[in-house]
Amino acid sequence: MKLGIVKETRAGEKRVAASPNVVSKWVKAGWDVVVERDAGLAANFRDDDFSKAGATIADHADVWAADIVLKVRAPEVAADGSCEADAMREGATLISFLYPAQNEALIGKLAARKINALAMDCVPRISRAQKMDALSSMANISGYRAVTEAANHFGSFFTGQFTAAGKVPPAKVLIIGAGVAGLAALGAAKGLGAIVRAFDVRAAVEDQIKSLGGEFLTVTIKESGDGAGGYAKEMSKEFLEAEYALFREQAKDVNIVITTALIPGKPAPKLWFKDMVELMKPGSVVVDLAAEQGGNCEYTVPGQVVVEKGVTIIGYTDMPSRMANVASDLYGNNLAHFLDEMGGAKGWKIDHENDAVRPALVLEAGEKKWPAPPMKVQAPSGAPAAAAPKPAVAAPVAVKPAAKPAGKSGGHGHGAAPSEPSKTAGMVMAIVGLIAAGGWAYLRWGAGADSLDRSSGLLLQQLSTFILAVFVGWQLIWNVAPALHTPLMSVTNAISGIIVVGGIVSASNFDGNARWVAVAAALFATINIAGGFLVTRRMLAMFRK
Ligand code: NAI
Repeated sequence: MKLGIVKETRAGEKRVAASPNVVSKWVKAGWDVVVERDAGLAANFRDDDFSKAGATIADHADVWAADIVLKVRAPEVAADGSCEADAMREGATLISFLYPAQNEALIGKLAARKINALAMDCVPRISRAQKMDALSSMANISGYRAVTEAANHFGSFFTGQFTAAGKVPPAKVLIIGAGVAGLAALGAAKGLGAIVRAFDVRAAVEDQIKSLGGEFLTVTIKESGDGAGGYAKEMSKEFLEAEYALFREQAKDVNIVITTALIPGKPAPKLWFKDMVELMKPGSVVVDLAAEQGGNCEYTVPGQVVVEKGVTIIGYTDMPSRMANVASDLYGNNLAHFLDEMGGAKGWKIDHENDAVRPALVLEAGEKKWPAPPMKVQAPSGAPAAAAPKPAVAAPVAVKPAAKPAGKSGGHGHGAAPSEPSKTAGMVMAIVGLIAAGGWAYLRWGAGADSLDRSSGLLLQQLSTFILAVFVGWQLIWNVAPALHTPLMSVTNAISGIIVVGGIVSASNFDGNARWVAVAAALFATINIAGGFLVTRRMLAMFRK
């Protein structure tokens, strides 16, 4: 299968859909990769780097003719109705940001060419799909870049300083909206030494703000801002009035304001009014990350930097493109995980049953498939079914079920073949069975009659229990919903604890092979517990300062 990485055409867009690092992984995995000449130049990737990674450098038409075309921005539709994607083969696949709710003309063009279109902005925000979540990768970059842009326009230090020449107070930063971008900005501003405060309508972010060293601001009115799928909802007039009052107080004190507040399917709420800008000290900076959706600040001009009453208001809408090198690498990694999720070079297909892929499917052979019907998330028996995954930012708040639910066999390549889990389960059972039979045969004929006399009865009993346990364990774990994997890990750690105790007791009660099996069980379970703690510590350390 041929992957085509095309050159972005939107004015000022510096990103490219993959870095040479990602391309080399694709080539190793068996993909045939073609990269458009100079596609990576603006992101500081030379054609030579892509060639060394194993890609072929080709001209525009050859790259657009690939089986799967990879892009960052949605293809452009010109005023005369022509579309970049007209160069695609009929029936080929396009994967890029698409924002299907806002790009009806483009979706119509792609449908006419019978294209399979997958939107990276519609990958669900579920734990399992985090590695494919390009919205978060880009929001993280935007948050970080907002701080460096603010620092660039702010005429003082972020960190407080005591020097021989005098004392400089630390900068005070206010972050409005502590989603992915807001938290990244918080971390970056804190890292530079500023005092950081953050406000959000979702109370759930309080712990995240505090764990990054920020101060969580609140208003006296109690109202939950949690909307559908973990996103924010529109707040009542009373709540907003209280929020504005809080901001007017803060405006007199803070030096930098970074706004990121968004409500899915709506223009960005106006939260930082002209009078608040006027209350700020001259030299202060506002960075409006919601500029593309109209902006949170009344003075914002999307794409520009303006100065009003001595305050700089930054309305750039291309923050990730301003860090094109790392943005391309991270976006490419998101794409690589997405392609793997779809089966990789050897088994790529559109699987309607895959809850990380189906929501991103906009067109299949030109047929509209978006919005996806709510995916069924398995719940433990007895418990009610969990909610459907969160819609991506651009999706409308209410997701309409499709007229026809996706068929059981769903996408391409499905037939009467058994499903992957049962095939894998069968293979595992066969391997375990072979090991068990081998062990028994060794004891029966290899280890001599003595050891058989002493331990065969017991060992046979233990082997049967072991096989049964593997089978039951496999079935249980495979059927646990992804959302419950974290509690599942805790339970398996508890089970490991029981195995350690059981192993120690058995080792002291039995001789010969049984003793060594018990010692091995205790050892492996200890490694599992210790490994679990080490991995958890490493993960926590990534969030601590
Ligand atoms: P977003 O870009 O849609 O909004 C940014 C922030 O603005 C949100 O935190 C929102 O609560 C806040 N906001 C809205 N109105 C506001 C107001 N009037 N005043 C102050 N703040 C306001 O959010 P983002 O970053 O896309 O994340 C949204 C949700 O998705 C969060 O719950 C986040 O935890 C979740 N998420 C889940 C992921 C996963 O599980 N894979 C990955 C990324 C995000």
